[in-house]
Amino acid sequence: MFKIRDVVISPPLVLAPLAGHTDSLFRMAVKQLGGCGLVVSELVSTEGMTRNRARSEPLTRFEEGERPIAVQIFGADPARMAASAAMVEEAGADIIDINMGCPVKKVVRQGGGSNLLRDMPLMEKIFRAVRRATKAPLTVKIRSGWDHDSINAVEVLRLAEDCGVEALAIHGRTRSDMFSGKADWRVVAEVKAHARIPVIGNGDVFAPEDAARMFRETGVDGVMLGRGVLSNPWLIRQAWDHLNDRPVTETGHGERVRFTLDFLGRVSRELPPPVALGKLKKLGGCLAKGFPGSSRLRARMHEARTAEEFLASVHDHFSNDAA
Ligand SMILES: Cc1cc2nc3c(=O)[nH]c(=O)nc-3n(C[C@H](O)[C@H](O)[C@H](O)COP(=O)(O)O)c2cc1C
Repeated sequence: MFKIRDVVISPPLVLAPLAGHTDSLFRMAVKQLGGCGLVVSELVSTEGMTRNRARSEPLTRFEEGERPIAVQIFGADPARMAASAAMVEEAGADIIDINMGCPVKKVVRQGGGSNLLRDMPLMEKIFRAVRRATKAPLTVKIRSGWDHDSINAVEVLRLAEDCGVEALAIHGRTRSDMFSGKADWRVVAEVKAHARIPVIGNGDVFAPEDAARMFRETGVDGVMLGRGVLSNPWLIRQAWDHLNDRPVTETGHGERVRFTLDFLGRVSRELPPPVALGKLKKLGGCLAKGFPGSSRLRARMHEARTAEEFLASVHDHFSNDAA
């Protein structure tokens, strides 16, 4: 357990923000499986929020059952970041998180995400503007630096602390790494060693033992899990069992099937038809990786032309092929 001001994070395991995946439905589903002490929304554009609030609203929406929840904002304009933070606070989020790690070109080109790691004066303006605009607990998520010649995570930590940021999550890769190679947990450990605020470590936790190793090797207060959860939504609960010396139970085929059908059914019911099919293919494709014969299942998912067809082929696959 650790605290971000008065927000208790228990267990100290965090579901990472994953754009396109970790919407409210997915976060609720993971939360209900257990072990998860904090969820974070997908990144939300502060340009979008301040220009057309209604369009961004689905991205900032959450269920009471998700709490505590951090809503993550990104952008490069301090005034828009501040105005968006105030909106997020008003919407009742427990924590406001600033994205300073996203490596995607579209985000970086506009000056936001990991671009801020190489523009510390602008980073400072953003921290100060957001801090002034909201009383809510404020956190930041970063990468270790822009590239290997400019690793500056400890400097960023110091600036964040000076500006009133209350926790920092660090993915142990630089922007130039994108997702290649292995996350360097030494930078995570170095940041933790210098920190006065809680530090959440992130990067390449794909098995329960990885989470335990990250706690041990870096001393972080919390561990954040991302891609591993997409194909194994039980990963956070399994990590928590492992950390408590309880036997880690592999999820049985029947439970996987039930979860997958239930979750995908909910996605198709709750999303408007034009977005549902794309989302089903994306989420279903990840979940399929956990099943034997996954390439056949994914091929069938891919062929579907409507959400109904998609669900029918998944049902059919489980009742005929792999039950
Ligand atoms: C598809 C995808 C979407 C992501 N979206 C976000 C995002 O919205 N905000 C963010 O801070 N990081 C985002 N990330 C980065 C993850 O939160 C995390 O830092 C990264 O995947 C490393 O953790 P992992 O090895 O456990 O996946 C995304 C990563 C992926 C693969």
